Amino acid sequence: MKRSIVFGVSTFVLALSGAMIGGAMIGVAPGAEVLQVDLTDWSPPKLSTLGNDPFSKLVKYGHALVTDTPNQIGPDVADPAKRLSGNNLTCQNCHLQAGTQPYAMPLTGVWGQFPQYRGREGEVGTLEDRINGCMDRSMNGKALALNSTEMKAYLAYMKWLSTGIADGAKLKGSGTLATKAPDRAVDLAHGEQVYAQTCALCHGNDGLGKRAATGHGYQFPPLWGPDSYNDGAGMGRVLNAAAFVMHNMPIGTSFDAPVLTDADAYDVAGYINSKERPVKADLAKDFPNRLQKSADTPYGPYVDGFDQHQHKFGPFGPIRAKIRELQEAAAAAAKAGASK
Ligand code: HEC
Ligand code: HEC
Repeated sequence: MKRSIVFGVSTFVLALSGAMIGGAMIGVAPGAEVLQVDLTDWSPPKLSTLGNDPFSKLVKYGHALVTDTPNQIGPDVADPAKRLSGNNLTCQNCHLQAGTQPYAMPLTGVWGQFPQYRGREGEVGTLEDRINGCMDRSMNGKALALNSTEMKAYLAYMKWLSTGIADGAKLKGSGTLATKAPDRAVDLAHGEQVYAQTCALCHGNDGLGKRAATGHGYQFPPLWGPDSYNDGAGMGRVLNAAAFVMHNMPIGTSFDAPVLTDADAYDVAGYINSKERPVKADLAKDFPNRLQKSADTPYGPYVDGFDQHQHKFGPFGPIRAKIRELQEAAAAAAKAGASK
């Protein structure tokens, strides 16, 4: 059942324009109102509805690129020109269920969310830039050429997945669902314990995962080591990783019935990210405005006076407070400068 709910300034308008169909409010957005789409209760389009026209074919290739990346563009494919990804992860290892699982960074609806300002790049970026952000970091590979069939296929797939979702709609269930991280440093010994009890079964005691029976990918993907995401990836930030893990792992976990506690997720995320992984060059270029750098960015430089260890493992409260103070000082200085 598709639901699109009018998220308006006035519930009066909503009552007038909404119609109840099978219990779901189907809203008609009057004027400048913003649509809210609930991805936790949304049926994505079905592949079986695709035909053989050029757009449909490209969408199907995009789906293959998301769900079977290592066999399409991985480092070990036969055609050297197609070796675009640097590791054997598949996009779907993180963007679960072909990018449709809520709170597992779903790709549903992202089409209408770009261009968008991003602090990491310090500029307004396109969806292509964002895809290449994951190619460079999560996949430890190369940026796709903008006119490549692969880039067009990713875009076509994401556009198709976003069918029925208005541009700029507020998405419930996008990204990850934040945890209530304890305001203390990660307890690595506890993280190791959680890992051994709840994760090692699939991801291996050595964290290197388990290869698929056929092809280049994994049945259970690695969480660290040379074939994992690099140190510039979003999953390399402990609060991001905790949010993903708590609401999605062990595999099959739904965001509304987590297996781990907030503290378990925080500690095991810290444990995973304490391990060796590929190193990305030029990370100092990220967050050109250092005051926009998230507290849990595991690489410097920093302007808040806290060391790399604390940025990697917390506690984050003091870092956030200091950043807020510096932001306020910078805003006040800018205001004083402008009024001269
Ligand atoms: C029953 C098996 C299973 C268990 C247990 C499990 N996972 Fe996973 N995990 C998976 C699978 C399978 C995927 C890839 C999902 C896909 O491709 O659909 C995955 C993906 C991941 C990813 C993203 C991909 C990557 O390689 O970085 C992370 C992070 C992760 N798991 C962490 C954990 C943590 C932490 C635990 C323990 C709290 C855990 N998992 C427990 C099966 C499992
Ligand atoms: C190791 C996990 C991982 C893998 C593998 C991965 N991503 Fe991501 N991706 C993330 C995380 C985490 C975020 C969001 C956090 C951030 O902004 O860094 C994200 C964000 C995105 C977004 C933006 C989503 C939004 O809501 O704005 C797109 C698009 C995207 N990834 C595409 C891809 C594609 C395409 C691939 C495969 C080529 C891929 N990702 C592989 C972890 C991963």
